[in-house]
Amino acid sequence: MNLLITGGAGFIGSHFIVDALKKNHSIVALDNFSTSNKDILVKIKEASGKDFIFYEADISDKSKLREIFSTNEIDLVVHFASLKSVTESVFNPILYYRNNVGGSLILLETMQEMGVKKIIFSSSASVYGSSHLSPISEECSLNPISPYAQSKVIIEKILNDMTTCKHDFKALNLRYFNPVGCHESFLIGESSKKEPSNLFPIICEIANGKKSHLSIFGNDYDTHDGTPVRDYIHISDLISGHISAIDWLNSSKKNISSINLGTGSGYSVLEIVNVFNSFLDRPIQYEYSPRRPGDSGIVFANNSLAKSELKWSSTQSLEKMCKDSWIWHSKD
Ligand SMILES: NC(=O)c1ccc[n+]([C@@H]2O[C@H](COP(=O)([O-])OP(=O)(O)OC[C@H]3O[C@@H](n4cnc5c(N)ncnc54)[C@H](O)[C@@H]3O)[C@@H](O)[C@H]2O)c1
Repeated sequence: MNLLITGGAGFIGSHFIVDALKKNHSIVALDNFSTSNKDILVKIKEASGKDFIFYEADISDKSKLREIFSTNEIDLVVHFASLKSVTESVFNPILYYRNNVGGSLILLETMQEMGVKKIIFSSSASVYGSSHLSPISEECSLNPISPYAQSKVIIEKILNDMTTCKHDFKALNLRYFNPVGCHESFLIGESSKKEPSNLFPIICEIANGKKSHLSIFGNDYDTHDGTPVRDYIHISDLISGHISAIDWLNSSKKNISSINLGTGSGYSVLEIVNVFNSFLDRPIQYEYSPRRPGDSGIVFANNSLAKSELKWSSTQSLEKMCKDSWIWHSKD
């Protein structure tokens, strides 16, 4: 198919492009490099052995989008472009609503104008908020507790309304849990211009001496060791879910669905630290800090819908996720 990838220079977008090129899809990608670096483009070509069309562009730039859609044949949009820091979104909600919601509206308006009728949207497990018992299924209510999560809920709702009023428009919201690791080529991985705020990159920064220690927020949760449990998913599994999502959009009789992409297993912060310690030269130093407001003890996915609808399941172990993350980050 002819795919337009927004946010193609980012962590997940770049991995998707490599695998989609290998599956012989034709790729047009765009990114404004607000949080990513231009050197990723060469790496994508190296890792895939193939070429693709790239535009430095913002999803809010309607005339540029019109040019992209009219110059290239596009069958389906995979929409990764977004700002993604929960903390930053709390301090600057307008930036998040303007970039994520405003930008998506312009993208969708242009798709409508140009007759492009299929979209895969990068949503997030954060849409569920913190009040549900795990495993969390897609039927759980949406209780976003940050502007970032709220921006994802609003875009899902817009897509839902579009599929209701235009019956030939199809959308798939993929709600990611916590993607980690890097590409099997070790040529691409997570490399943002912003300070890392996720557990795996922070542990790797401690391991390579850039940070002194890990703060673990809460050791009194109702988990086996008291530290919070989350569902981590290897980037290669996340991407294979997207490849299956393309088939779903082409074959399913439904015109919209929201599907969790998580492994269905949770691991505590201490368990992850211990896996890293099993292969690092020096143990990761950590200290306990008070719980963060809004955090819950245990969050992991019910992924039965991904299994039944996408015929997808995860394959990579926690050890592989930790080792791949370290191999990637130790190159810094
Ligand atoms: N990585 C995660 O932990 C995670 C978890 C859940 C959901 N998501 C979602 O997955 C998607 C991809 O995440 P990622 O980890 O690759 O993030 P990322 O920051 O690495 O990539 C996002 C890319 O979008 C680009 N971008 C941002 N705003 C843009 C705009 N207005 N116009 C054009 N490009 C723009 C950035 O420059 C960046 O290259 C995002 O929508 C994110 O919210 C990510």
